[in-house]
Amino acid sequence: MVQDVYLPHVSRIRRITQETDSSDVKTFEVIFLNEDAWQGFKYAPGQFAEVSIFGVGEAPISITSSPTQEGYLEFSVKRMGAVTTALHHLEEGAVIGVRGPYGNTFPIEDMKGRDIIFIGGGIGLAPLRSLINYMLSAKYRADFGKIDIIYGARSPGDLVFKWELEKWRQRDDVNLVVTVDRGDDAWTGRVGFVPAVLKEVAPAPGGAVAVTCGPPIMIKFVIQNLLELGFAPEQIVTTLEMRMKCGIGKCGRCNIGSKYVCKDGPVFTYAQLGEMPKEY
Ligand SMILES: Cc1cc2nc3c(=O)[nH]c(=O)nc-3n(C[C@H](O)[C@H](O)[C@H](O)COP(=O)(O)OP(=O)(O)OC[C@H]3O[C@@H](n4cnc5c(N)ncnc54)[C@H](O)[C@@H]3O)c2cc1C
Ligand code: FES
Repeated sequence: MVQDVYLPHVSRIRRITQETDSSDVKTFEVIFLNEDAWQGFKYAPGQFAEVSIFGVGEAPISITSSPTQEGYLEFSVKRMGAVTTALHHLEEGAVIGVRGPYGNTFPIEDMKGRDIIFIGGGIGLAPLRSLINYMLSAKYRADFGKIDIIYGARSPGDLVFKWELEKWRQRDDVNLVVTVDRGDDAWTGRVGFVPAVLKEVAPAPGGAVAVTCGPPIMIKFVIQNLLELGFAPEQIVTTLEMRMKCGIGKCGRCNIGSKYVCKDGPVFTYAQLGEMPKEY
C-alpha cells in the first residue's frame, strides 16, 4: 500500500517548558504513540517537521532536540498565528501530529575537525541547539574543534533555554557569550546587539565555520561582520524560514528561483545564497 506522505505521526506532548518570561516561547517534548514510527524517524540537526494541531492546521518547526537524545523530539515554538497559538493552548498529555523529518541538514561532515562559532538570536537558537548538543555529546565531541556560542535576545526575559545555557557555560570546552539588547535591574551580564558582540569577540576565521540563525535583520549584520572578520562565504552557514505549506517540494510555496527551501534547504551557506535570486 502506498504511504500517504501527508499523514502525520500521532504524537503526545510529554512535557511543556515555558522558555520566556512572557511565555510567548514554549518547548514541547513529544513522543510518537507508535514505537515503529519512532524507529523509522531518522533525523539530523538542521531538519524540521510539520507540526499539526488537528482541526487547525500545521506549521514547519525546527527539531530542536539532538538525534543523540533518543526516544523523543523537542520543538521550541514562538506564538505567532493560528497553529502556534493553538499549540500554546495545549497541555501536557495532549495529542498532536508530526510529519517529517524534512529538509537538508547542517553540513556536519564538512564541519569535522574545524572550530565552530554559533551565533543565535531569540528563538533562532532552536535549530542551532540541535547541532550544539549533537557536537557536545560524548559520542561526537572529539570530532569538532573549539566551540564558541554567541547568543542574544531583546531582554533577559526573552532568553530561551536558560538552564541549558548554564550547562554550556559550565563546560570548559565551550566559550559561551550571552548578551541582551536591554538589561534589567537583575541583569549583570553583557548588554549589546549580537552583531556588535560578534565583532568584539572577533573569532578567527582560520578554517572555522560560523553558523547563524535569528531575526533576518540580525542575520544580515552578522553576515556582514563575519565577512569583515575575514570569513569566506563558504564558511558561513544559515538556515532560512521561508513561508511553507507542504514541506516536501510539491506545492511550490517556498521556492527561491529553482530552489525549494523545504527540500534544498533550509540550511544554506552564504556562498549558496549568493547564487540565488534576492528573494529571501
Ligand atoms: C524550516 C522552518 C523552521 C521553523 N522553525 C521554527 C521553530 O523552531 N520555532 C518557531 O516558533 N517557528 C519556526 N518557524 C516559523 C513558523 O513555521 C511560522 O511562524 C508559522 O507561520 C507559524 O504558523 P502559525 O499558523 O502559528 O502562524 P501564521 O498564521 O502562519 O502566521 C502568523 C504571522 O506570522 C507571519 N509569518 C508567518 N511565517 C512567516 C515567514 N516565514 N516570514 C514572514 N512572516 C511570516 C504571518 O504573516 C502572520 O503575521 C519555522 C519556519 C520554517 C520554514
Ligand atoms: S513548502 Fe511546498 S514546495 Fe516547499
